[in-house]
Amino acid sequence: MRVLLLTALFAVARGDPCAYIAGKKWVSPAEARACLNAFPVDPLVKENTIQVLNKTLAFHTSTYYQIQAPPPFENDIQEDLHADLARISAKEDYNSEFELHPDLFRAFKRVNDGHCVVINYCYDSLYVSYLPTPLVFLTQPDGQQNVFIAPEAFDVASAEFGDEIEFWQNALPGKLKGQLESLSGAKVLLINGEDPFKAVNKNALITGSYQSFGTRQNSFFASYYRGDQGWLYNMGNFAQQVHPLTNSVELTIMRNNSGEIDVLPYRSRFGSQSKNFTDSASYRANNCVATNYTNGYDLYDASTSSSVTSTSDPKPITYAQQQPRLNPSDIRRHPVNVLLDATPLTDIDLPQKMQPPNPALNESYSVAQFYLMNDNTTGVLALGSFSAPNFMVFQASLLAGLVELKARGARKLIVDVTNNGGGYICIAHWLHRIIIGPKRSTEPQAGLDSSTRAGPLAQLIVQKIKEGADPSKLLSYNPSQWTNASHVPFELGTDWLKPLRKLEINGHQDVFSQRLGQECQPFEVDPPDEGLFEPENVVIISNGRCASSCSLFSITMSKREGVKTVVVGGKQGVPQQYCGTVGGQSTDFSTIDTEIKSTKLKNHTLAPPDLLSNVVQGITWRLGFGIDDKEEPEEWQDHPADINYPLTVETVNQPVALWEAIAKDVFRVSQFVVQSS
Ligand SMILES: *[C@@H]1O[C@H](CO)[C@@H](O)[C@H](O)[C@H]1NC(C)=O
Ligand SMILES: *[C@@H]1O[C@H](CO)[C@@H](O)[C@H](O)[C@H]1NC(C)=O
Ligand SMILES: *[C@@H]1O[C@H](CO)[C@@H](O)[C@H](O)[C@H]1NC(C)=O
Ligand SMILES: *[C@@H]1O[C@H](CO)[C@@H](O)[C@H](O)[C@H]1NC(C)=O
Ligand SMILES: *[C@@H]1O[C@H](CO)[C@@H](O)[C@H](O)[C@H]1NC(C)=O
Ligand SMILES: *[C@@H]1O[C@H](CO)[C@@H](O)[C@H](O)[C@H]1NC(C)=O
Ligand SMILES: *[C@@H]1O[C@H](CO)[C@@H](O)[C@H](O)[C@H]1NC(C)=O
Ligand SMILES: *[C@@H]1O[C@H](CO)[C@@H](O)[C@H](O)[C@H]1NC(C)=O
Repeated sequence: MRVLLLTALFAVARGDPCAYIAGKKWVSPAEARACLNAFPVDPLVKENTIQVLNKTLAFHTSTYYQIQAPPPFENDIQEDLHADLARISAKEDYNSEFELHPDLFRAFKRVNDGHCVVINYCYDSLYVSYLPTPLVFLTQPDGQQNVFIAPEAFDVASAEFGDEIEFWQNALPGKLKGQLESLSGAKVLLINGEDPFKAVNKNALITGSYQSFGTRQNSFFASYYRGDQGWLYNMGNFAQQVHPLTNSVELTIMRNNSGEIDVLPYRSRFGSQSKNFTDSASYRANNCVATNYTNGYDLYDASTSSSVTSTSDPKPITYAQQQPRLNPSDIRRHPVNVLLDATPLTDIDLPQKMQPPNPALNESYSVAQFYLMNDNTTGVLALGSFSAPNFMVFQASLLAGLVELKARGARKLIVDVTNNGGGYICIAHWLHRIIIGPKRSTEPQAGLDSSTRAGPLAQLIVQKIKEGADPSKLLSYNPSQWTNASHVPFELGTDWLKPLRKLEINGHQDVFSQRLGQECQPFEVDPPDEGLFEPENVVIISNGRCASSCSLFSITMSKREGVKTVVVGGKQGVPQQYCGTVGGQSTDFSTIDTEIKSTKLKNHTLAPPDLLSNVVQGITWRLGFGIDDKEEPEEWQDHPADINYPLTVETVNQPVALWEAIAKDVFRVSQFVVQSS
């Protein structure tokens, strides 16, 4: 090991550290870092990035709220992003651009809002670091909870990593060499010599995406989810990392009843969305500079828009969106509310033997799979996203699948939204409406009223549209897209942001639009006249990682209909939230830039400049109003799971076994002991 590493470093020192790793699928984290670290900060590029981020924050609804969130998140969100940007702007001693970027990246991560992120494809997931030992957190028969190497670790790693598994086999010490498989299922006593939860909690401070500490703890561990094409496996933050910052980890484990210490090296794999290079120059050219799709464009200028619209290449942000690739023609018609992550959705398979053995009902489509359990009375909707490649087919399949479950005798319904990062807003409204039926809580509004931030530049965009700047009604600031609080569509030519709501948020004056209603109903397909399941016979389960449109659905089902929520696998005594990152509608810099350019406001002093580097910035564009506290955003209100359901070696990452256990325990409410209190 040591000899190998020295040889590598010697080669790196001699020449171009990027040429050294070019074309290699797997490298060591140190080799990846040598390349990434080889570029000093360019003050012009730094200033440009900070200006774009800072000015785009004026369109992010939550900038001032996130300076200090209210209870129960008062300790989780205390981030002033404008102050971070001022600090980073003034700091001049970054040794490299790769030292600067994580400072920006992590500042944004600390708002714990999966819509508000900054991702630079030059660094984030350029190389993804892996260990062959994903971890799980299990409750033993005596009630004790411990960290374990996932029982399926070797199956997953050997299928996914192919020949590279030999590297780890050979890296194991002494008589363990070649015995990687024997680590699967071992109890983890220490990580780097400390209680494993030291590492879990350290990660919870940087992983972002969810307000709740408990959910961020859960992100450390491996989990499953339903993808567009099949059942997938999320390695968790221990075994999969977005930057090549860690060389190795020391695990003290209990295996075959004897304790031992193993040092496992991380290996860094060239990212699935990274662009090939041969040396430093081509690494930078292909991965680090703005592409034709990084910035917005003027929809009404044929010469600038053609280079963007003529391509079928996905927009850069789609790599970060935690939803399947969408049909481009659906995107403008159906707004989304979706989580962004610097790691693209994985395509690591859940091992076959852990997947549901029986075929799903034929009505299933993509991320929505329907199963009737063996008791013939419990139906399951496994829903990995609120987006699927074809909006209309997806919408129809959700109704057809639930109707078919009912026709086959299902009276109870489990909706499994594990790792559901959201998606189409109107699919969240639709699913709520069809399960519950027509009621005051579902018609015409089955989601949340919302409001958008109405700073000076947003107001000017609306003014320009009022003066005729968007004749084809293409822009997000066009009144034709939205309704007022009585759900009446705004007429063309109205200044729909007004009357403005002037607020003081954490000591800052802020301005928002009037309260907005919903734009989903009437739906394009008729919903049934009656509800399909009684609310008391429905439970929503997940690992807490249910965000955006998944939050819109779960919150309205829980708070308005009384549907029970279950989070699996959380630590005892830590409050578990059934969702996080609520938002209302999410968007990004390039979309806002298109609004600005199309209304000819790019020269305005408040307009962000064009980005020079390969960066995407996500924001929350509309914020949903609360259900309990109706005048405040739902975003930072409490979403406590009714039950923290323990995972065991029999149920972890085995959806059917888990659904059976939950059907047995959770539907018999009175006999079940709530774990989390
Ligand atoms: C960011 O924008 C605010 C106004 O919203 C301004 O006061 C501040 O100076 C800007 N910061 C930087 C680093 O440009
Ligand atoms: C550990 O125990 C398993 C059976 O539980 C056995 O197959 C394996 O060979 C043992 N490994 C070692 C290194 O003793
Ligand atoms: C990038 O390199 C890999 C491995 O060398 C190759 O399989 C792949 O086709 C290349 N991709 C492109 C777009 O050239
Ligand atoms: C980017 O746009 C320019 C024209 O503006 C075009 O010549 C070029 O081919 C485009 N690049 C890609 C990768 O599409
Ligand atoms: C699905 O359709 C196929 C062919 O149409 C049929 O053979 C099968 O029985 C159906 N399965 C279910 C679960 O309905
Ligand atoms: C469920 O239905 C199937 C097919 O109708 C039947 O074979 C099975 O015995 C039923 N199971 C129970 C628990 O009633
Ligand atoms: C919405 O618009 C309709 C039609 O202009 C109006 O009658 C209604 O009062 C408005 N609702 C609100 C809450 O402003
Ligand atoms: C911005 O200003 C420059 C120079 O003042 C001018 O050439 C350009 O046309 C303006 N662009 C827009 C979109 O108004």
